[in-house]
Amino acid sequence: MPPVQRKKDTSNLSENYVPSKTSKEYDQKKSSSSGGLICLSILQVILTFLIINFAASFFLTETWFWGYEGKYTNWRNWIPRREIIFSEAELAKYDGSDPNLPIYIAMNGEVFDVTAGKHYYGKGGGYNFFAGKDASRAYITGCFETHLTHDLRGLTHQQIKDLENWAGFYRDHHTYYKVGRVVHPPIDPKTPIPPPCNDASAQKSQ
Ligand code: HEM
Repeated sequence: MPPVQRKKDTSNLSENYVPSKTSKEYDQKKSSSSGGLICLSILQVILTFLIINFAASFFLTETWFWGYEGKYTNWRNWIPRREIIFSEAELAKYDGSDPNLPIYIAMNGEVFDVTAGKHYYGKGGGYNFFAGKDASRAYITGCFETHLTHDLRGLTHQQIKDLENWAGFYRDHHTYYKVGRVVHPPIDPKTPIPPPCNDASAQKSQ
């Protein structure tokens, strides 16, 4: 006897068919899980690309970022921190004489942590005179004895631009980073502008 062909029950496939709540939920679940899968695949592609990129960079340049070293490779710049406001006296504590404290220098009011360069700025370092103060003027004139001041009066436009380059050097450094600002008392305009020193470069070589 041939098998009995059962007729499919199409009673609820009529024009007025409204899918049951459970099948709707099933469809929603299905589409959200396929959306999740797409996101995962995109993440996988990005991750693979990054790994290949870093590996190629390391293989070809022996650095992870194609030789780039700057503020973006300085992990300290990725940590959100509140700016510290220093008085001149507070800043002076960070001049490298206390080995338990970081070393700070200031550049036109901006304070940078230069502890990583303690062989320059720490005790006995060739540039220790810059530590714990805002000696912006000396960065421009090279007068390391008499111009260790933030007093920029009398400097030319070009010299001020050069100072901005120094600030950029500290801002974009791969180990130094900005910690805050120093507040200077206003300069009395009646005080004399620091006189030029004779041989700025000779001061460094001494
Ligand atoms: C306007 C004059 C100058 C300024 C403001 C200045 C400033 C600086 C600063 C801030 C550093 C440390 C850089 C860092 O943190 O990585 C440095 C390093 C250095 N500077 Fe100068 N410099 C000046 C002139 C000179 C001169 C004339 C010489 C050479 C006679 C010199 C030789 C060096 C050397 C060899 C280093 C490497 C570190 C060291 O051995 O002390 N600089 N300079």
